[in-house]
Formats: sequence, C-alpha cells, structure tokens
Amino acid sequence: MLLAPSILSADFARLEAQARAALEAGADWLHVDVMDGHFVPNITMGPVVVEALRPLRDATPGCELDVHLMIEQPERYVDAFADAGADTITVHVEACPHLHRVVQQIKERDVKAGVTLNPATALSTLEEILPDVDLVLVMTVNPGFGGQAYIPQSTDKVRRLRRMLDALGSEAYLEVDGGIKPDNVRTVMEAGADTFVAGSAIFGGARSVAENVAAFRRALSLRA
Ligand code: DX5
Ligand code: ZN
Repeated sequence: MLLAPSILSADFARLEAQARAALEAGADWLHVDVMDGHFVPNITMGPVVVEALRPLRDATPGCELDVHLMIEQPERYVDAFADAGADTITVHVEACPHLHRVVQQIKERDVKAGVTLNPATALSTLEEILPDVDLVLVMTVNPGFGGQAYIPQSTDKVRRLRRMLDALGSEAYLEVDGGIKPDNVRTVMEAGADTFVAGSAIFGGARSVAENVAAFRRALSLRA
C-alpha cells in the first residue's frame, strides 16, 4: 500500500517543509497535480516544481515523484517532466487520441507510464492499452480541484478494474485520486486499490501533516 500526498493542497510557501513532513511521517510518494486551464479549469504547476522536489526525493529511500498531467496534448511536455525528475507520468485517456504513442514516449524515457480516467469514462477505453501501462489511476472526483467529495460509484469501478488487471496478470499500480480520507480509504483498498492520493486530508485542516499521515497509516493497516 502506498500513500501519495498531493502537494496541490500544501502551503506552497513552505512546500519543501510540508512534503518532508509527510515523508518523514511515513508517506511514500509525492503526487504532483499539473493543470493547464484547458483540460481542467484550474492552473497549477509545471516541471520547475518537480525539479524543486527532486533533492528531497533523492534523499528519501522509496520516494517517487508521481506526476499527474491534467493537460491537453500531454505529449508536448513528457520530455520536460522526465528531465525534471518525474518517476511516473500519468496522462488522461480523454486528452490523448494517440494514447499508445504517448505511453511509448513516456516509457522510452525510462519513466513509469500511467493512464487515468475521468469519473464518466468507461474502463473499456483501457482495454487495448492495459498490457502496456505501469499504473492506472481512477479519478474518484472530477479533476480540477482539491477538496471535493469522493464519488461513491468509484468503488465499483476500482473493483472491476482490479479484476481486469488480475485477469491480465498485470502488476500495474491501481491508484485512486480525489476525496480519499482516513474514513474511506479502507473501503477503496478492499475494492482493490493499492496506491492512494490524498491532498486536503493530509495538508488541510487543523491537525498536523504528521497526524494526518498517521491516521491514513492506521486506517490502511486495520484488519478487515
Ligand atoms: C484533483 C487532483 C487531486 C486532488 C486530490 O484534480 O488530481 O490529486 O488534489 O485532492 P483531495 O485529496 O483534496 O481530493
Ligand atoms: Zn492527481
């Protein structure tokens, strides 16, 4: 089980300290939400932020920079994010008419290739590409903003995707993103997810980042 705090909800004036606090408390990856104001309404960050997190990543065993591109024509930026130090680059199937080409482009850079689906996009759109990918991200909110509520139908989508991956013998990560909290993460894990993005539940609210990470760790290690 991997916990991937989304830095979108961090205090950007103290980004390194907040990311470090999450990792020291036991988070695994850092999730970087890239938005272009076209594919989604919001604008966030680019390769310079990935580059700025690289020393922290390098100093933290097991840490990976998990870059989620919510942008149109992501193929134009794969090299820039790979150069900046991305370990995984995930693109939206809705943004990629030539998805196979983009996935190969990412893999040619020795970066893990991820694909992701908006809530209303069917799992069947992944059927042909699934054997080629290293990670599948199920969006459990509509992409664009942190702090939204988990869409309940996502749990069944995760369950069905787990069956598809198992049928293929795929070892791809099954990641979920949006509205993941200590009180629902267990259900999503039992449905078959293994990698959990959380933004506001880690960097928001009154509790410390360390307490929030600890709450996730407890929830993930509880018996069913
Ligand atoms: C949504 C982003 C998410 C988001 C998660 O567009 O991809 O990563 O920041 O934030 P929470 O955990 O607050 O829903
Ligand atoms: Zn994300």
